[in-house]
Amino acid sequence: MINVKKRKFRRKVYISSLISSVISLVILCLGITLRVKKGCLGPLKSFRIYQMVMQSAVGENLSKSVKCDGNVGGNEGLIVLETLDLWKIYRVGKIEYPALRGVSIKVRRGEFVAVVGPSGSGKTTLLNLIGALDRPTKGEVYVDRVRISRLSGGELSELRNRKIGFVFQSYNLIPYMTALQNVELPMIASGVPPRIRKEKASSLLEDLGLGDKAHKRPSELSAGEQQRVSIARAMANGPSIILADEPTGNLDSKSAQVAVEIFRNFCDSRLITTVMVTHNMEITRFCDRIVYLRDGQVEREVSA
Ligand SMILES: Nc1ncnc2c1ncn2[C@@H]1O[C@H](COP(=O)(O)OP(=O)(O)OP(=O)(O)O)[C@@H](O)[C@H]1O
Ligand SMILES: [Mg+2]
Repeated sequence: MINVKKRKFRRKVYISSLISSVISLVILCLGITLRVKKGCLGPLKSFRIYQMVMQSAVGENLSKSVKCDGNVGGNEGLIVLETLDLWKIYRVGKIEYPALRGVSIKVRRGEFVAVVGPSGSGKTTLLNLIGALDRPTKGEVYVDRVRISRLSGGELSELRNRKIGFVFQSYNLIPYMTALQNVELPMIASGVPPRIRKEKASSLLEDLGLGDKAHKRPSELSAGEQQRVSIARAMANGPSIILADEPTGNLDSKSAQVAVEIFRNFCDSRLITTVMVTHNMEITRFCDRIVYLRDGQVEREVSA
């Protein structure tokens, strides 16, 4: 009698879990279909939709939800970067210099955003705060939903090394190291074994058209080539975000276009989010969105 009751109970549990699985599957499919039909994910290729769904499924991306505010960019997706009422006030003696005054922006996975504005408008300050190179006076920065003000010094270094790739106007390559060794550097910091990091560095240099320049030192490379080495170095640990501060500032127009096309390609093929500060409006045509800063505030945002 007890056995029969147990069996009935198990069958009920089995049937109800089967029904709830089917219902969730139907809801998921309906959700995706509706979003695609509504155009929320319209501009994204099916491959990218698949990648995003897979990433959220395996929990790699911890973003809040699939957000489709649809106001800017048209490249809706998972929010990977967010600043909330960000303030930075530098203090020199008794004088205060407000560099950022309440900046709130959101950037989606795989989005390529340009930050432009007059000199002194706070572009570098914003990038430094996003990249956890400096701390805000007030406000928050979220990277993959992690509030970075909560992280300890060690955790911040880990975040900078693994999730964020930095590219600077002056390349910042180590002059006595070869291109290959420069690209290997971040991987040494994260403990990648020598053979693997050599292979990865070679393959990145190859991808960026520098396969035959791997053993040259920075002084033996052109400006454009040095910047490509620094982009390869930024990519070494497979970051989800690239922060570039005037990466084309020292380049001629052709090399500048090559560098920006590389960022565009990383955004599209590897869903890497890129925030690039620039004075060069010509190259912003490769971006999804332009954020205009003025006097430490977002003046406006437009689709590029
Ligand atoms: N360490 C600092 N101490 C005091 N003031 C600073 C410091 N760093 C920046 N500032 C001030 O903060 C403001 C924003 O500087 P920031 O470097 O972010 O501007 P920017 O938009 O990157 O300018 P540029 O286009 O010239 O690089 C400027 O007025 C600058 O003088
Ligand atoms: Mg600057």
